[in-house]
Amino acid sequence: MQIIYLIGFMGSGKTTVGRALSEAMQEQAVDIDVEIESRLGKKIVDIFQDEGECGFRIHETATLRSLQHIPIISTGGGIVERQENITYMKETGVIVYLKASYELIAKRLSGDSSRPLWQGNQEKRALYQRRITMYAACADVTVDCNKLTLEEQVDFILSQVKV
Ligand code: S3P
Repeated sequence: MQIIYLIGFMGSGKTTVGRALSEAMQEQAVDIDVEIESRLGKKIVDIFQDEGECGFRIHETATLRSLQHIPIISTGGGIVERQENITYMKETGVIVYLKASYELIAKRLSGDSSRPLWQGNQEKRALYQRRITMYAACADVTVDCNKLTLEEQVDFILSQVKV
């Protein structure tokens, strides 16, 4: 089975697209962040606070590797921070990058307090710039989220991915 991995920056729509794909394909979808929160019984912000980003990344990698029976996986925006995650996704599935402009992301995440790396005066644009290069480098399929509606995004993904 080829797993569909949805990657992209925070707020690019990975969870929403995962759910819509799940409905269209009649297959199960899992969001890695939701799965981590449910396994640890803790919110992502609290995991970051208690264990730091490094601790969170260990849970993220372990959770990614434990979901090999799930056909659609929405990742967290930082999944590309570890090369081993990219290698694993390449080996086990197809990587679909949900590409969204910084302006669209900033609009969607305005007032969001659930994402530790999108708070206050942090270097958000620098993080975005660094990450988009990483997403583009590993993507098998790229979806233009600024131009396509949710339904069009799903249709496009299904047209590109052999399911
Ligand atoms: C992160 C993105 C978040 C979550 C965590 C770290 C990141 O997921 O995994 O806050 O490093 O970009 P979303 O992309 O679903 O917001």
